[in-house]
Amino acid sequence: MVRTQDGRNGPLLVTGGAGFIGSNFVLRHLRDQSAGPVVTLDALTYAGNPHNLDALAADPRHTLVQGDILDRDLLRQLLRDHRPRAVVHFAAESHVDRSILGPGAFLKTNIDGTFHLLECAREFYGTLQGEEREQFRFLHVSTDEVYGTLEPGDPAFHENTPFAPNSPYAASKASSDHLVRAWHHTYRLPTLITNCSNNYGPFQFPEKLIPLVIGNALAGKPLPVYGDGQQVRDWLYVEDHCSAIETVLARGTVGETYNVGGNNQQANLHVVETICALLDELAPANRSYAEQITFVTDRPGHDRRYAIDARKIQRELQWFPTQDFASGLRQTVQWYLDHQSWVENVTSGAYRDWIDTNYGDRTSGAKTPAETVAR
Ligand code: NAD
Ligand code: DAU
Repeated sequence: MVRTQDGRNGPLLVTGGAGFIGSNFVLRHLRDQSAGPVVTLDALTYAGNPHNLDALAADPRHTLVQGDILDRDLLRQLLRDHRPRAVVHFAAESHVDRSILGPGAFLKTNIDGTFHLLECAREFYGTLQGEEREQFRFLHVSTDEVYGTLEPGDPAFHENTPFAPNSPYAASKASSDHLVRAWHHTYRLPTLITNCSNNYGPFQFPEKLIPLVIGNALAGKPLPVYGDGQQVRDWLYVEDHCSAIETVLARGTVGETYNVGGNNQQANLHVVETICALLDELAPANRSYAEQITFVTDRPGHDRRYAIDARKIQRELQWFPTQDFASGLRQTVQWYLDHQSWVENVTSGAYRDWIDTNYGDRTSGAKTPAETVAR
C-alpha cells in the first residue's frame, strides 16, 4: 500500500493511548481536523481506560486496539496494516509506589515491552523506502526520574546529566531509554526521546498525588503526605507535555533526547495545601479540607527533588509551556469535580485493594499537621 498522506498527517501508532498522558495526546492530536489516523494500542491494564477516548467514538480516524506491546505478532500486523509514519510510545507501568511493592510488571512492560516494540519497528523500518523511510520516527516518552534525585541547591537535570535511577520504576525507564539509544546507534532506527517531569491534568488515575488528594478530600478521608512533605517536583500541565511531544515529533533531531518541564518546582505539602484551598472555594464544606492533611510513613528511597532544565527544547525547537500552575491546577480540580462519575468508574474493587495495600501500614502512627508541629 502506498501512503497518500504527507509526512505531517500520516498515521500514528500510539502505545498506551488509553492512559493518562496517552489519551490527552490522542484527543489533542485529533482535535486538528487535518490530522491523519491514529491507532491506539493499549493493554487496558488498571491504568488504561477506553472511556478516556469516548470523544472519538464517532471519529473514523481513530482505532483502539486492545493488546500488549509484548505481543510481537500483533505489533507486526499493526505496523504492516497501518504503515504509521511514527510510533509514539507511552505504554508503561508508571506508578513508583506500585514498582516498590511489585517490580516484576515494570521490568516486563517497560524493558521487555520496549525491546519488542523496538525490534518490530526496526523490522518495519527495514521495509520502507523513499519518503516513507525518511519520515519514519520512533518517539519514546520517558521521565526525569531516570536522572535520580537533587539536593536543594543542585542545578536542574539537563540532557547530559548521568542516569542514577533510584526506584524500580525509574530503573526500568532508564533501561528502556538505553535500549532506544542503542537501537539508534547500532541499527540507525530514527528515534527521539523525551524526558519529562511530573504531569497533572484530566484523566490522571487517582493513585497519583493530585487526583488522589482531590478524591480523598471530597470523600472526607485523610490526605496522605509522605514523610515531611518537603519533596519537590517540577509540575507540568499535561497539554503542555503533549504539545512538546508533537513538537519533538515534527522537528526534533533524530537520535536526540529532549528534556521537558514546566520550570515550576513545588513542595508536595504546598501542592496539597493549594488543592485544599481550591476545594474550599469550589466545593466548600463545613471545615477546611486542609484539616484532613495527614503525615504518613515515607516512600522507601523517596527522591527528594526533581527539576528539569528545558532550555534545549526551548532553544532548538521553540517549545514553551503555556499553562501556569495556578490556572492549571484550578482547571484540574474543576475537571475532577465535573467528572465524578469517571472517578467512580476507575476506583473499582481493585483500586480499593491497592489503597489498602499502599496506605494500610503507612497510616499507623500518622500525624496531622498540628500534631507534627507539637512534636
Ligand atoms: P498511565 O499509567 O496513566 O498509562 C499507561 C498506559 O499504558 C495505560 O493505558 C496502560 O493500560 C498501558 N499499558 C501498560 N502496560 C501495557 C502493555 N504491556 N502493553 C500495552 N499497553 C500497556 O501512565 P502515564 O502517566 O500516562 O504515563 C505515560 C508515559 O509517560 C509512561 O511511559 C511514563 O513513564 C511517562 N511519563 C509519565 C509522567 C507522569 O507524570 N505521569 C511524566 C513523565 C513521563
Ligand atoms: O517525575 C515524573 C514522574 O512523575 C513520572 O515518571 C511517573 O510516572 C509519575 O507517577 C510521577 O512520579 P511521582 O512519584 O513523582 O508521582 P506521584 O504522584 O506518585 O507522587 C508525587 C509526589 O507526592 C512524590 O514525592 C510522592 C508524594 N506522594 C504521593 C502519593 C501518591 C505523597 O506524599 N502521598 C501520596 O499519597
